[in-house]
Amino acid sequence: MKAISVKNLTYSYDEHHIAIDDISFDIMQGSYVSIIGPNGSGKSTLAKLIDGLISSNKGEIKIFDTTLDRKNVNKLRQRIGIVFQNPDNQFISSTVEDDIAFGLENQNVDPALMKDIVLEYAKKVKMSDYLDKEPSNLSGGQKQRVAIAGVLALNRDIIIFDEATSMLDPKGREDIRNLIKQLRKSNPNLTMLSITHDIEEAYLSDYVIILNKGKIVKQGNHDEIFSNLDELKSLGFETPFFATIKEKLQKRGYDLKNINNIEELINKLCQLM
Ligand SMILES: Nc1ncnc2c1ncn2[C@@H]1O[C@H](COP(=O)(O)OP(=O)(O)OP(=O)(O)O)[C@@H](O)[C@H]1O
Ligand SMILES: [Mg+2]
Repeated sequence: MKAISVKNLTYSYDEHHIAIDDISFDIMQGSYVSIIGPNGSGKSTLAKLIDGLISSNKGEIKIFDTTLDRKNVNKLRQRIGIVFQNPDNQFISSTVEDDIAFGLENQNVDPALMKDIVLEYAKKVKMSDYLDKEPSNLSGGQKQRVAIAGVLALNRDIIIFDEATSMLDPKGREDIRNLIKQLRKSNPNLTMLSITHDIEEAYLSDYVIILNKGKIVKQGNHDEIFSNLDELKSLGFETPFFATIKEKLQKRGYDLKNINNIEELINKLCQLM
């Protein structure tokens, strides 16, 4: 089943400038999709369109086969959790605890269960020591952690991360990657859309969409995108560490067809030595 289907979508903030220019793609339920592209290429605009925060008058967005329009936008938004690029814009409450609980309250979660759910997700993002703190006094990365906890706690069908880990340190990013991995394992139907400048993060996804100046310049599954590193470079991206090493070794004649991660690569090289 398609979780998100976008067809000929076009959007302009004003008459001089097209932010999203006739784009089409499908995201299957349960998949993990990355959207990459330079600053100003339209990534956040696309996320806001999918979440129904802004609406386009050209093209169509379907969420689980239902067309997103004014009539059902509120209902469809209930299926999507989004963490925005700028964490400052997403805090409403006076404590971290209330902030993580805010979405749950709107979802009419039993108040008796609420405290436990909030604590569980605060722990998952390593913010349980900060529950009584004021969100505005946190660092950028801590704010992102709290925003992520608030969205994951809602247990939505589709999660959109708009550079949600851009302010985290490398260990923090790895923690969130592992958390997403865990969540997808326990819920194989969870659909994850991640907007990122981190090519290592994009490398973990099943499908990649590359945007430039509001248009899709390339889209494809993991292998299609990462089997041609020269093309990725020519589009202005770094190349993932593992894919770069693997390609260099393959050019030197090593057969690494079924080698898919650094551990397997090390084992293979040790066998060959
Ligand atoms: N509120 C707005 N009003 C007018 N123009 C906007 C607005 N928000 C974005 N734009 C313009 O739309 C285009 C796409 O912006 P968008 O924020 O979607 O890019 P992005 O790919 O998310 O960039 P970044 O990597 O910097 O987050 C840009 O040219 C931007 O200037
Ligand atoms: Mg953006």
